[in-house]
Amino acid sequence: MSDSIESVLQENRRFPAPSAAAARMAKWLVPSMSDYKRLHARSISDPEGFWGEVAKELHWFKPWSKVLDWKVPDAKWFVGATTNVCYNCVDRQVEQGHGDMVAIVWEGEPIGSGGRPDIRRLTYNDLKRDVSKFANALKALGVKKGDIVTIYMGMVPEVAIAMLACARIGAAHSVIFGGFSTQAIVDRVLDAKSRTIITCDGAYRRGSVVPLKESVDAAVAQLAQAGHEVKNVIVHSRVGNQTAWHSGRDHSFKDLLLASSDQCPCEHMDSEDMLFLLYTSGSTGKPKGILHTTGGYMVHTYLTSKLTFNLIPDDNQLYWCTADVGWVTGHSYILYGILPNRVPTLMYEGAPNAPKEDRFWDMIARHKVTHFYTAPTAIRAFMKWGDEHPKKHDLSSLRVLGSVGEPINPEAWMWYHETIGSSRCPIVDTWWQTETGGHMITPLPGATTTKPGSCTLPFFGVDAAIVDESGNEQPHNTGGLLVVRKPWPGMLRGVYGDRERFIQTYFTRVPGMYFTGDGARRDADGYFWIMGRVDDVINVSGHRLGTMEVESALVSHDAVVEAAVVGMPHEIKGTGIAAFVTLAPGSEPASPADADKLKNALREHVSKEIGAIAKPDQIRFTPALPKTRSGKIMRRLLRAIASGDAKITQDTTTLEDYTVLAKLRESEEA
Ligand code: PRX
Repeated sequence: MSDSIESVLQENRRFPAPSAAAARMAKWLVPSMSDYKRLHARSISDPEGFWGEVAKELHWFKPWSKVLDWKVPDAKWFVGATTNVCYNCVDRQVEQGHGDMVAIVWEGEPIGSGGRPDIRRLTYNDLKRDVSKFANALKALGVKKGDIVTIYMGMVPEVAIAMLACARIGAAHSVIFGGFSTQAIVDRVLDAKSRTIITCDGAYRRGSVVPLKESVDAAVAQLAQAGHEVKNVIVHSRVGNQTAWHSGRDHSFKDLLLASSDQCPCEHMDSEDMLFLLYTSGSTGKPKGILHTTGGYMVHTYLTSKLTFNLIPDDNQLYWCTADVGWVTGHSYILYGILPNRVPTLMYEGAPNAPKEDRFWDMIARHKVTHFYTAPTAIRAFMKWGDEHPKKHDLSSLRVLGSVGEPINPEAWMWYHETIGSSRCPIVDTWWQTETGGHMITPLPGATTTKPGSCTLPFFGVDAAIVDESGNEQPHNTGGLLVVRKPWPGMLRGVYGDRERFIQTYFTRVPGMYFTGDGARRDADGYFWIMGRVDDVINVSGHRLGTMEVESALVSHDAVVEAAVVGMPHEIKGTGIAAFVTLAPGSEPASPADADKLKNALREHVSKEIGAIAKPDQIRFTPALPKTRSGKIMRRLLRAIASGDAKITQDTTTLEDYTVLAKLRESEEA
């Protein structure tokens, strides 16, 4: 962590909000720093007044009696009100006369024989019709308000239809990223006690097909053995994969649409009714179901989408977020925050290098994308692939560039600014989490002077601070824990089924405050610089993984008795995964070739248990792990070894066995 402090301290470049380029825009919604400061001060001193006014921009069936009810750790926003998120995303636009306007532009990955990919444009009318039909189909299958529906699909318009249909009838969805394994489906379905799964026959990814339905079939079989029955599996046919068909249980997405009425009124949902669960990794145990509710999440994602990206309807805007809907970014900033702003949202099915490394830039030029939101790990890959790819395309439609998911290193920031944004597009480096629902610390493009590598200043209503363990604010440029001291509308309302874990994880380390798990510092201008996680969570390519999850996966292999997993610097991924593994007696490899074979087998095993993103980048076999006298694994030491820091300067006097250290240093890298 000290390295990152030094590197950011050297960063003193400033990029003022571009008033000259502003002429290209209809207007900046927050046009100056003084506007930001005035509105932020108001949002903190009078959060109820501030958020109450914002909420009135959306539709409610019944108004609230009180904007906020807060008793640590429980927040209730828009108390007593009823609304429907799907109504605000879709029906409201139709009712206001915009039914023929495009809501979603979708592009498939494969390039057809005519040299063109599939493109579909869904208007608000189309969405209303298909979402209503699918909502009726779910009801006919017995799905009721309050049920949890699992969604495990590729990036196709049907995933948006499925999510919105759940919201329409008041069923919560639990979307599982299509890159996760069978075991991950089993864990999440069981935890949520979900009885309906919506999937695809397969998904296109970098020219090959990911067999989603097969993973679901295997998961359902495993679940049955565990005594949990999945009643319905709905299958959207995307790739024409012939998969086993379980009649009675399996249903065709298309046939359900054909058979259903397109009239389905939106359920009146209490503001605090569950909207969705999204599982995310923590420092202990299996991934936890982060619970988001209706009213506050809707208002928070609506306003952050509008102001962070400067979304304005009827301004020739086309917004593109490259995330997968399996992550919170896809929930909040492909769908739920964008659709109520009536700016079309582009969904892309596949990989950035399919068929070639210029796919994204080609898409930006062809579709005239105005807003582009991606992750630093992707930006680093683009840099590595070379400038010739973006240089081939006309990127002059771009107006605002966004970054999310992990700290963006100043070098990547500058490349994004110059090579993609032609030094004229503001960059919004948005800090937030699955738990926060929406943006928390971010520049506003018309107001904030940016500094490469800093996510800058808190969004409206966000009282973020850097504190020590007792909650005292740290002086400028002193690292500490990043906390949020007051509730905000999009905050998680719990960990599904585990009240204790909710309190322990978020409200115990710094009493009375929400603890983010991140370390950060603030500079003399009040700008935030995120230094990374301070718990046993690592951020691999912008995806969160618990080191313990990977350890458990390794230990579940017969050849492994003990494993310790730590993060290590990685050029593209930001953080890579290093695993130190102690083998069971008799499993030790006889030759270097055997060792490689075993390492590959372990990687595959982790991929099967969790998903390909969790495969260790480096595995070292070691006869023992370094532990303190009380038996705790010395992770700091392992991190130093994994990152190639040969002279280990850390205090090792409590090492139980000094020889372990020497052996570890000797252990061969993968
Ligand atoms: O460590 C922070 C990092 O990602 C974590 C949240 O991960 P997740 O819940 O998967 O959500 C990712 C998408 C919002 C945070 O605790 N993180 C996220 N955005 C940034 C970031 N770190 C630095 N800068 C960011 N802009």
